This record gives sequence, structure tokens and C-alpha cells, in this order.
Amino acid sequence: MTIRVLTGITTTGTPHLGNYVGAIRPSVQASRKPDVDAFYFLADYHALIKCEDPDRVARSRLEIAATWLAAGLDPEVVMFYRQSDIPEIPELCWMLTCVTAKGLMNRAHAYKAAVDQNIEKQVDPDDGITMGLFSYPVLMAADILMFNANLVPVGRDQIQHLEMARDIAQRFNHLYGDGEDLFVLPEVLIDDDVATLPGLDGRKMSKSYDNTIPLFQGGTRALRSAISRIVTDSRKPGEPKDAEASHLMTLYRAFADPKQSAEFKASLEQGMGWGDAKDQLFALLDGQLAPMRERYEELMAAPDRIEEILQAGAAKARRHAAPLMERLREAVGLRGVAPAAGTPAKKSRKSASRFVSFRDDNGEFRFRLLDARGHDLFLSEPFADPRATGGVIRQLQQGLQQEWIVRDGDTVSLKVDGVLICRFPEDRLEAVQSAVTAL
Ligand code: TRP
Repeated sequence: MTIRVLTGITTTGTPHLGNYVGAIRPSVQASRKPDVDAFYFLADYHALIKCEDPDRVARSRLEIAATWLAAGLDPEVVMFYRQSDIPEIPELCWMLTCVTAKGLMNRAHAYKAAVDQNIEKQVDPDDGITMGLFSYPVLMAADILMFNANLVPVGRDQIQHLEMARDIAQRFNHLYGDGEDLFVLPEVLIDDDVATLPGLDGRKMSKSYDNTIPLFQGGTRALRSAISRIVTDSRKPGEPKDAEASHLMTLYRAFADPKQSAEFKASLEQGMGWGDAKDQLFALLDGQLAPMRERYEELMAAPDRIEEILQAGAAKARRHAAPLMERLREAVGLRGVAPAAGTPAKKSRKSASRFVSFRDDNGEFRFRLLDARGHDLFLSEPFADPRATGGVIRQLQQGLQQEWIVRDGDTVSLKVDGVLICRFPEDRLEAVQSAVTAL
């Protein structure tokens, strides 16, 4: 079974080394796995929310596309496109906007932070806040739901947006799904193995701290010059260094194999000078980046080629988006006024029982069984990851097996292969059974 993995990159800047290690490299690697169906796109509509400088947005779109291609993304294997080339996305965004509770958006961290800052400055709470910023999570939900993505790899700051996308999808499915789900519920993927790089001053590498090391910009010289500016302590050559506390070590490790890292660490502990350490770091990084930088420069010199790749990607992506959009238009009632001859009358909508999975406040994954009226029948025990809940739900959907039902006084436990799934009062058993049968 393949898993559809989708992620977006906002086009407001020039990728730096932290973006490469934190997002680009792992995404390109993931896209090469045989069981992954990758959708990576340039979130250029999102860029308009943060940036009102047209030249910067235009330039960033080009630089980011060239960076991903230079880093090894294969547009024949990966669906690689610009958000703004898919007109179905803003169309879906509007449909989702119409089912999204305003109260849900009021709770979005980015919006709340902006309001809090205004209150602190004693200006109007909504000062400078656009509808784009307020509705940001709805557009992001449209990006994801348009392609029925299963997994969305993002940074921790995006977890809430994924939860909102699930919320919105569930509501839409419930309102318009007519018993079958129009949208897949996406799951967030946070990769804790991916390194967060320190910047020149040791804080997280970020454009907003102005402490970045360029990836390709400015070539070898700019890389060497940035590395020379990484802060170190004042220990002299010959003095043992605290390798683990050094930012050079963290940067080195992000590009080295374990053996190289161990050697670098030992050298620092034996007194290698910071200057020599920086030379070694530069050699390691430039060795890996130089061939990519060459491809990057070739691509930047041939923007027509990039445009062609992106247009082809958009055409392919639209082959997925258009049929779903057609179903959605039909589902919400935006239909042709004259039904085609022979089209059967639409069956009346009936609600059905269903499973709803979610992430609880402890970050664990649970699901509920709801009856046709949307009432809770049970809440599951917590599971460590979304695939485990998905697996259990699929088993339950096959029908309840007698041996799973364990009675204990007035309580029934459901145990699948010995694993406790949930407990509920015995007098609810019949309702649970008929809800499962009706699924
Ligand atoms: N909001 C994401 C970010 O700033 C970018 C993004 C837009 C995105 N749409 C998306 C990420 C859809 C994943 C899926 O990082």
C-alpha cells in the first residue's frame, strides 16, 4: 500500500542550510521510498499572506523550485507544482471556509499571537490583521484535502493547522458525505530525527534571527565566510574543547556519518583549534553542496526549464484535483440544472454511524465511535501513533467478533488480539454492535 505524503513550502525567502537539513533533504529522501507517493508544492498563495513585495515572491518561487530540483527531487516521480497553478485549490478553500467555524479560527496560534501583540501595544486588537492571516488554516486544509493526503510532514509549529484540517474535513464529510467520506483525514508527521541546526549565533537557524548560513547563494565564498563567523568560545588551539557544547559539532554531525563525527569530536577534545575545526566543517559541507550548487546555478540560468517542469507538474496534479472537485460541486449542490438523461435521482441523505479519530491533549491518538445521530458510543484507549488507531479501526469495520467482547460486571471491554481497545457500559453493547454493522 502506498502512502500519500504531501507538504508545502511557503515562497517568501531563499532556502538556507537549516531549511535544507530540516525539510528539503528528508523530503527528497522520503520521496524515493517505493511506498511513498509524494506531493510537494510551492505554497505561493500562502506567501501573499506574509509578503507584499511582488518581486520577492516571484524570485523566491524560482529559487525554491531550483533548490528542490538541485537537491535531487525528481519531478517524474514526485508531484511537484505551484499552489497557484491549481485553480481547484482556492475553489475548495471557499467550500471549506463555508463550513469552518469562526471560533475554530479564533483559536489559531498565529492569529492569537498577532492579537496579543496588538493588545500589548495598546492598539486595536485586529490592527494589521488581514483575512488572509485569519483564514490561513483553511487554505492549508484545502491544499491537503484536495489531494487526499495521508501524511503531512511539517514542523511542530504546524501541528495545530493539521488538527484544524482534520476538523474541517470531518465536518465536511459529515455534512455532505452522504455516508461515504469525501475527504481522507490527514495525519501530521513530525520527524524527531531531523536535526534543527544552530545558526551563526547558536540560536535556531532562522531568517528572522538573521543568523543563517546560505545554502547555494553566494557560492563557496559565502559558505566559507559564514562558517568563519560561527561563534565559538575563547579556548585556544591546544586546549581541549567541549565538543558537545559546540555549534560546530552540531553542524558537522548533520552532514557527517557517525565515524566522521566521532573523529571530529575526538579532535576537538584533544585540542584542535577552532580555525582548523571550521576548515574541516567547510570541507565537509562544500563537498556535499558543490555538486548541487552547480545544478542550482544551471537551473537558475534556465528559468524556462523550471517553468516547464512546474507547468507539467500542475497538469498532472490537476488530473487528481479536477475529478474530486467535480464530486464536491455535486455534493454541495452546485450541479447542472438539467440532470443528464438517465441520471438516477439522488438518493436521500441518510446519516451513518462512523469512527472519528483525533489526537488528545497528551498527544496520543484515540478514536470515538459515533452513532448515526452523532452521539458518542465509546472513546478508545490511547495509541502511540495514528497508524495503530487506523489499523484497529479497519479491524473493527470488518465486524465485531464475539471473542473480542469481554464482560466484567456492568462493563464491556473490547479486546482485539488481547489489546484493550475501549470499555463501555454493558447496556450500550447492542447500540455499539448495530453501529458497527451499519458502518
Ligand atoms: N504553512 C506551512 C508552513 O508555513 C506551509 C504550507 C502551506 C503547508 N500549505 C501546506 C504545509 C500544506 C503542509 C501542507 O510551513
